[in-house]
Amino acid sequence: MDNSLAMKDDIILTDAYQRQFSYLRLSITDLCNFKCSYCLPNGYEGKASQNELRLDEIKTLIASFAELGFKKIRLTGGEPSLRKDLLQVIDICKSQPGIEKVCITTNGYRLNHFLPQWIAAGIDQVNISIDSLSPEQFELITASSDLPMIIGALNRAIDGGFTAIKINTVLLREHRDSQVMPLIDWVKDKPIALRFIELMQTGDNGEFFNRQHFSADKVKDLLVDQGWTEKSRLIHAGPAVEYRHSSYPGSVGVIAPYSENFCDTCNRLRVTAQGQLHLCLFSEEGKDLRHLLQTTDSEPLTEFLRSSIYEKLPKHYLQQQKTGATRHFAMLGG
Ligand code: 5AD
Ligand code: SF4
Repeated sequence: MDNSLAMKDDIILTDAYQRQFSYLRLSITDLCNFKCSYCLPNGYEGKASQNELRLDEIKTLIASFAELGFKKIRLTGGEPSLRKDLLQVIDICKSQPGIEKVCITTNGYRLNHFLPQWIAAGIDQVNISIDSLSPEQFELITASSDLPMIIGALNRAIDGGFTAIKINTVLLREHRDSQVMPLIDWVKDKPIALRFIELMQTGDNGEFFNRQHFSADKVKDLLVDQGWTEKSRLIHAGPAVEYRHSSYPGSVGVIAPYSENFCDTCNRLRVTAQGQLHLCLFSEEGKDLRHLLQTTDSEPLTEFLRSSIYEKLPKHYLQQQKTGATRHFAMLGG
């Protein structure tokens, strides 16, 4: 399950605060074709994404992280399905010894076409963003009219036995009536995981954030009122809080980045599509890894990571509106 990598003896990368790292979020393109109101309200601006990591660079990157005991890779974007060689990227990750889970986060674009391909390629988990169950509100949020297609594709996958699906919903004040209860009701007969994510401020979305943000604690309270119970957390479980209910086959999770101690359980590092290491989603800057990837030798990068990890700060400073270098999540895949 996402974020539930148990503590393993072979995890090598530990920071100054005794956090162990085993999960890499790798953006493979910052291109996106949706216009989510909290991320890219005017759509992707600029030319087609340039200078993305090549397959040989990705191979060295993945081998180095695996050598340091990383077990899980999530491919993100932008929208990762816009990369033509995505299946080859999945294959590189799947064939790397030590990597146990290869996951992908998608906005659902052409999911009817892509999901069967990813399942055939052995993908271990697919996260799909669904911010509202109303097609009209989904379109207001994302500028896409694909919701019915996305739901059809995911129902077919579930009927075919693929249930390693997570739905990501970013909580928005204006849309919450078509989000929280409708989504909880909708998963009642589905053995999948639903995730409510508290809206985070980024460099670009300050005004939107002030209008739309509400605390995920409200959703936690509602779940508890409705008989959901918090699952006990594995030591290195990551920052989401998961809930179970005896009448539901799946789970509901809440990601509340503004809550106390959120960063204590951080188990992940991020690399952008251009090969910049971000020690935190809200880092002030990325560290260029590209010059270390021009070889099949994984050693230069493992050495660099071992020393860089000590620079990871104990927490983000979002409460103080410090959003770091992150203008929007399309830059580094959330
Ligand atoms: N706050 C919270 N979640 C966000 N996402 C994108 N931008 C934000 C934000 N500002 C979500 C996307 C996707 C995941 C990768 O991150 O909706 O589900
Ligand atoms: Fe694209 Fe994801 Fe940003 Fe939406 S949140 S605009 S799908 S990158």
